[in-house]
Amino acid sequence: MEIFADADEACAGLAAEIAALIRANDAAGRKTVLGLATGSSPVRLYRELARLHREAKLSFRNVVTFNLDEYYGLSRTHPESYWRFMHEQLFDHLDIPAANVNVPDGTVARSEVFAACQSYEQKIRDAGGIDLQILGIGRTGHVGFNEPGSGRDSRTRLVTLDAITRRDAARDFQGEDHVPRHAITMGVGTILEARRIALLAWGEGKARVVAEAVEKPPTESLPASFLQGHAAVRFLVDAAAASELTRAKHPWLVGSIAWTPEITRRAVVWLAHAVEKPVLKLLDEHYSEHGMADLLTEQGPAYGLNIRIFNELQHTITGWPGGKPNADDRHRPERAVPHPKRVVVFSPEPSDDVLGMGGTLRRLVEQGHDVSVVYQTSGSLAVPDEEAVMAAEFVLELTQQGGAGENPEVAFAREVRRQLEAKTAFDGDTAEIRRLKAIIRRGEARAALKVTGVDPARAHFLDLPFYEQGRYRQFRIGRADVDIVARLLARIQPHQIFATGQLDDPNSVAATCFEIVRRAVASLAGENWQADCRTWLYRGADKAWDVAEIEMAVPFSPDELATKIQAIYHHKSQRSQSPVEAGRGEVWQQAGQRNRETARLYDRLGLADYEAIEAFQRHVFSERHPEA
Ligand code: F6R
Repeated sequence: MEIFADADEACAGLAAEIAALIRANDAAGRKTVLGLATGSSPVRLYRELARLHREAKLSFRNVVTFNLDEYYGLSRTHPESYWRFMHEQLFDHLDIPAANVNVPDGTVARSEVFAACQSYEQKIRDAGGIDLQILGIGRTGHVGFNEPGSGRDSRTRLVTLDAITRRDAARDFQGEDHVPRHAITMGVGTILEARRIALLAWGEGKARVVAEAVEKPPTESLPASFLQGHAAVRFLVDAAAASELTRAKHPWLVGSIAWTPEITRRAVVWLAHAVEKPVLKLLDEHYSEHGMADLLTEQGPAYGLNIRIFNELQHTITGWPGGKPNADDRHRPERAVPHPKRVVVFSPEPSDDVLGMGGTLRRLVEQGHDVSVVYQTSGSLAVPDEEAVMAAEFVLELTQQGGAGENPEVAFAREVRRQLEAKTAFDGDTAEIRRLKAIIRRGEARAALKVTGVDPARAHFLDLPFYEQGRYRQFRIGRADVDIVARLLARIQPHQIFATGQLDDPNSVAATCFEIVRRAVASLAGENWQADCRTWLYRGADKAWDVAEIEMAVPFSPDELATKIQAIYHHKSQRSQSPVEAGRGEVWQQAGQRNRETARLYDRLGLADYEAIEAFQRHVFSERHPEA
């Protein structure tokens, strides 16, 4: 397991290794055989390899590649085919001969699949076997498309995709219904025959499965765990993807450690959960029986330690997220002055703001702060076509009723409706369709803001170009993205910034938006306002902070939580598109549950019993990679 500061750093190192391997093989007159994966995880590796080809004259003439898998039923030209993905992401940017590229064929007839899989395996053997296999890992624990149930000795074959895998691909396919049900994949046994393996995983979404893959005994129910038996396998992960490993999460369970204040707090909170006691009722023996005897020796006895941690937790709670004016703020998360504060809330897509901190937004407004909400992207990629059709027809109907002639708005609506009718399931949206979808999301965002009390004039819709010009998994930050955010920050000069996305998959919208904020702040380093500005991180609906990580906890009454949910509810286009999906839970329900759970955890630790809590962590922007 190798833990890196970020995916870029890991990918730069791995690409350099691949380059060295290719050069050594070239010098010895041998071909290099690479096993490749698709998906988000290797995107940065492929960009780096393309750069090495372009700038460092790394040739791929003698490289042979085998991709892990392909969706069954998709032709090469399908926008979501892995063949196409690999060409767009990598092969089109290299000098690799077309004949050296192998991707399973998703279009072979059922009756010929077995033979096609056999011959794929034969081809790998004929090439001399795979020198280095690149892998990602799915939330189900799959490698390739070897879903739970795949045996250690499985070979290249047709498989059925797991429901979770299909759900994870829904955004790419504009709806789960369009995601293929089957795929052809190299087997676990095929993968294990590679001489070296490098598995890449980024973002907290992978944390649990990474920990299970390396810490649990190998099992078919988590096929990536079979990699443990390989002699030359490496896991390359970022800190977020490593966060559930025992050594990262509970380091005191694996050996003696330095008890920093942060780890001490984490350990005491963990112990309280483990023995199901409030912090103030933890006894010396609880500590000793759970591998924390040395903590007691250093900082005990238990009661004194308990009180200290209890107070720390207590001091994270505040009803004044912007600071309490005229109060002693030595033990409060935010400073009292200045009051009011200029607050900037960054929302990667419209709705992230209310999902993550709708209650706090409202509180900040009520407490007199000057709150601006910055919607970084239009969010148009996430609007179903049906919503856009309704909007276009609404305009047409309205103008017909009013007897309006063919003004530009009518012409626009008519054109969008025509384009939507002509659009087949996997076509990307035209500029006009995206514009209409963006308008839908703006309307929803304004309706939601109204509930929070934010002045609509302080809603900024940036429609950042990286998103307008990009596709999921393939976003690239440009100078314009950073400049737009930097200009806004320089103008507002905030005392408080709220942001999210720092722990997400680096190719996601949220993480890309966070990186843009980071670079924008770095580009303004030294401006006076920065010395007096604090940044707070919030989280989306799918994951809450662990209590020990929270540095500001803002509690809410049942009514206030209901109001927050009302705000989220206004993001109509983001609700489930079918009763089946809705049955799995709507995002507004999840957001409410998260906030209730956080409150329950505080209660169990012996703190006050609130209905709901929104939580934040303080963040200091680092100076790394200031370039755009
Ligand atoms: C892709 C593949 C899959 C992915 C995995 C992770 O060829 O075989 O196993 O590696 O689903 O996907 P991302 O990287 O998109 O999170």
